[in-house]
Amino acid sequence: MPIITCASTKGGPGKTTLSLCLADHWRRSNRSVELLDVDPNRNLTQWIKNSGASIACTAIDEDDIVERAAEAEARSDFVVIDVAGALARGLVHAIAVANAVLIPSRPDAKDTLEAARTYQNVIAERRLAQRRNPKATIPAAVVLMQVNKRAQSFGFAKSQLEALNVPLLNAEVPFRAAYQNYSFAGLPLDDTAVRGDYAELGAAVEALLHG
Ligand SMILES: Nc1ncnc2c1ncn2[C@@H]1O[C@H](COP(=O)(O)OP(=O)(O)OP(=O)(O)O)[C@@H](O)[C@H]1O
Ligand SMILES: [Mg+2]
Repeated sequence: MPIITCASTKGGPGKTTLSLCLADHWRRSNRSVELLDVDPNRNLTQWIKNSGASIACTAIDEDDIVERAAEAEARSDFVVIDVAGALARGLVHAIAVANAVLIPSRPDAKDTLEAARTYQNVIAERRLAQRRNPKATIPAAVVLMQVNKRAQSFGFAKSQLEALNVPLLNAEVPFRAAYQNYSFAGLPLDDTAVRGDYAELGAAVEALLHG
């Protein structure tokens, strides 16, 4: 059922990695999962193809998101949408159809500012939805990616997001060479540490979904 959109107005913070690893986590937990690749670069589609992971992934045009997401949610336990890193129609539609929006951000000032900008788009869609249904909500949170918990930048990023009133997910993804290796080798997602990261992250996302 739920549609989870991984969105950022910025290129490169980890939308595709987040989409793929979350989908793989739920697949391993015996849930049916479908990925929708809205990025015209089709990185996710290519990654799925290279890795041979048995996750359904459909490349779709940004104008078809609303219809295709509704079809996917009717037949799957989880739908994960990966969008292009730009403020485009695809991002807006993918936020509007979502049951939860995840905004990846590295612990970097430019990333956190763009995460706040993306969150403003979530707020705008939520307000539009509330014009018809005052109880409508789109839970959203920033996911800090490529984190070194001992580095000052981790604290800086958290403080900046807090100052900007942007909610933060209760789990983050550490920096690991394994994620970089995948991007080249398209290996199956069988790294124990990666699976541990996403077990925690998956639980945090389910908590976000259930308020
Ligand atoms: N936790 C991590 N540790 C180390 N490297 C990571 C991690 N997560 C992602 N990466 C690296 O960051 C690169 C960019 O990630 P990804 O392609 O997921 O970002 P994106 O937001 O989808 O980018 P784009 O906007 O170009 O679509 C990946 O190729 C991967 O090598
Ligand atoms: Mg991407």
